[in-house]
Amino acid sequence: MRVAIIGSGPAGFYAAEALLKRTDTVVEVDMFDRLPTPYGLVRGGVAPDHQKIKTVARVFASTAARPTFRFLGNVCLGRDLSVEDLRRHYHQIIYATGNEADRRLGIPGEGIARCTPATVFVGWYNGHPDYRKAQIDLSVERVAIVGNGNVAIDAARILLRTVAELEKTDIAAHALETLRASRVREVFLLGRRGPEQAAFSSAELKELGAMEAADPVVAASELAACAESTGNAETDRNLKLLRAYAARVPRADTKKLHLRFLVSPVEILADAAGKVAGLRLEKNRLEARPDGSLAARGSGEYEHLDVGMVLPAIGYAAERIAGVPYDEKARIIANADGRVVDAASRTVIANEYVVGWARSGPQGLIGEHKRASADAVKHLIADGAGLEARVLPGRDAILALLRERGVQPVSFEDWKQLDDVEVERGTRRGAPRDKIVDVAAMLALLGQH
Ligand SMILES: Cc1cc2nc3c(=O)[nH]c(=O)nc-3n(C[C@H](O)[C@H](O)[C@H](O)COP(=O)(O)OP(=O)(O)OC[C@H]3O[C@@H](n4cnc5c(N)ncnc54)[C@H](O)[C@@H]3O)c2cc1C
Ligand SMILES: NC(=O)c1ccc[n+]([C@@H]2O[C@H](COP(=O)([O-])OP(=O)(O)OC[C@H]3O[C@@H](n4cnc5c(N)ncnc54)[C@H](OP(=O)(O)O)[C@@H]3O)[C@@H](O)[C@H]2O)c1
Repeated sequence: MRVAIIGSGPAGFYAAEALLKRTDTVVEVDMFDRLPTPYGLVRGGVAPDHQKIKTVARVFASTAARPTFRFLGNVCLGRDLSVEDLRRHYHQIIYATGNEADRRLGIPGEGIARCTPATVFVGWYNGHPDYRKAQIDLSVERVAIVGNGNVAIDAARILLRTVAELEKTDIAAHALETLRASRVREVFLLGRRGPEQAAFSSAELKELGAMEAADPVVAASELAACAESTGNAETDRNLKLLRAYAARVPRADTKKLHLRFLVSPVEILADAAGKVAGLRLEKNRLEARPDGSLAARGSGEYEHLDVGMVLPAIGYAAERIAGVPYDEKARIIANADGRVVDAASRTVIANEYVVGWARSGPQGLIGEHKRASADAVKHLIADGAGLEARVLPGRDAILALLRERGVQPVSFEDWKQLDDVEVERGTRRGAPRDKIVDVAAMLALLGQH
């Protein structure tokens, strides 16, 4: 069997592992990624001060070392290759393209200068080539981050950590330089619902209390309505930490992270130059939905928050890819239990599957994809019985096609060269790596080799 996997993040690599570990079927896996570098959000999302999590890349590299695996980086589905091309060259296709678009607040002022979605900010500090030129202006003292998830917490830590804390990480050099000159002193983390509904995990919340020169600040009044025990162990851990922060006296000369709850931005205000100059917030109350969950509802009571930058960190969504059915409502690849379906008729498109965030939306940790991708592979193998009899063009025909189109695929060996260069550059600043952030520079470097 020959299978194409599109996307080299955790979901794609765990699917490859499940395919290549099979002893009953020999599977050739070609994994494509639009970037020359593998690993998706492990490289471009996970925070630079969370190096331990990134060691999962070693597991993926051992999958890549299997003899029937090939990596074809720098190849974008929808630009360099079409779905029809894939159908001609492979028996089956797995889309593992993640969620690379951002969700919008949908309020006036969104999109003005210094209102920067988390996708952009995170990509910028992680050296994602798409965002290396993002205009991140840290000449302001106060920043609002909208959202109460782990991405919001990541962004807050990066804004508040010291240069000494960051320079030993693999943060992009351009971001380190901008952060070195940052004037940010106060960050406001804004949750539209209450502390009991916050999406962040207690491990991330705990880290906020251990920053070198920044302290979390929580008003006791924010916690007054919270139950002593909620019946949910993780929520109880969060509440315990928030209560401890509320009881703390913050150090005098540190930067401050204010955790605010039950507020929604309703308008982003601009100064004369068209840059963020403040936020109009509406106080919320919680209202039960028919299913029993709690929704934030505006109370009609407003306040002004004096900030010069806004970072909405309210979730991600899948990008549309030409030829791949898209579920407009859920903003994922249209699928039924991981089998790709026509978006309108919901008819299954044979031999095409979707895994990871492209399948289920932007929820869940890296490790959770192992099981989910392995389950998808079980479907694929069951559905594919007998398919191997279909004669395909030779395995290298796809390389010839790409060459014809002027595309230079990057192999896993090529990536290892880039990896070595980055690691070597990193040693100069005592960091695990110093990323190359420009695709042209990566290709030029490989050309020289
Ligand atoms: C900011 C952030 C921080 C996170 N931190 C953690 C953490 O600390 N710990 C944790 O467990 N989880 C973390 N997560 C969650 C974790 O990153 C995700 O669960 C996981 O990466 C999703 O895997 P995926 O393979 O579906 O998508 P991705 O990792 O996004 O991989 C998708 C891949 O597809 C490629 N691609 C997209 N479109 C195309 C195309 N058209 N053609 C070819 N290739 C394409 C992309 O370049 C990318 O390499 C974090 C998420 C974010 C957003
Ligand atoms: N260190 C880590 O382990 C780590 C780091 C980063 C990310 N991740 C994982 O990656 C996934 C994605 O993280 P995420 O933070 O992007 O998403 P998330 O966990 O879904 O959090 C999104 C937050 O945005 C809020 N929100 C959504 N729409 C909003 C709106 N219109 N106005 C105001 N607030 C709004 C949500 O509030 P409601 O709850 O009210 O909808 C929620 O607080 C999660 O599974 C996360 O755990 C893990």
